[in-house]
Amino acid sequence: MDIVLGSDHGGVDLKEACKAHLEGSPDYRVTDWGVFSVDSADYPEIAHRVAQAVAKAEFDRGILICGTGLGMSMVANRYKGIRAALCHNLFTARMSRLHNDANILVMGGRVIGAGQALEMVDLFLKTPFEGGRHQRRVEQID
Ligand code: RB5
Repeated sequence: MDIVLGSDHGGVDLKEACKAHLEGSPDYRVTDWGVFSVDSADYPEIAHRVAQAVAKAEFDRGILICGTGLGMSMVANRYKGIRAALCHNLFTARMSRLHNDANILVMGGRVIGAGQALEMVDLFLKTPFEGGRHQRRVEQID
């Protein structure tokens, strides 16, 4: 599975933790589009880039992290075909896949700890879409 990561300065530490976690698995090919420091950065730039690439199917999934996750999710969800899920816990990460077929996981680097976030990443990448009645609803989004 091809995964693209992006963050601003508010999410860079958690993004680095996610990258190290994913690179330890043979199941994932990880691309990191930054940022790479805690210097102030504009979250829309990275969110546009990641969302466009996932919408064009250049990657299977994306992970976006800013301070709260709010700005990243607002930007990413402007793209047709993008279902960016701002998740705060294991339940929302799991449901974002089961019911919403989310293709971008968004988290707040200043909201959740790395331990929980890495478990959320695993759930997000491994949980299948349930389909059925949820397929119709997902189609209604666009
Ligand atoms: C940066 O200070 C912060 O605004 C950003 O990381 C994010 O939380 C925006 O939604």
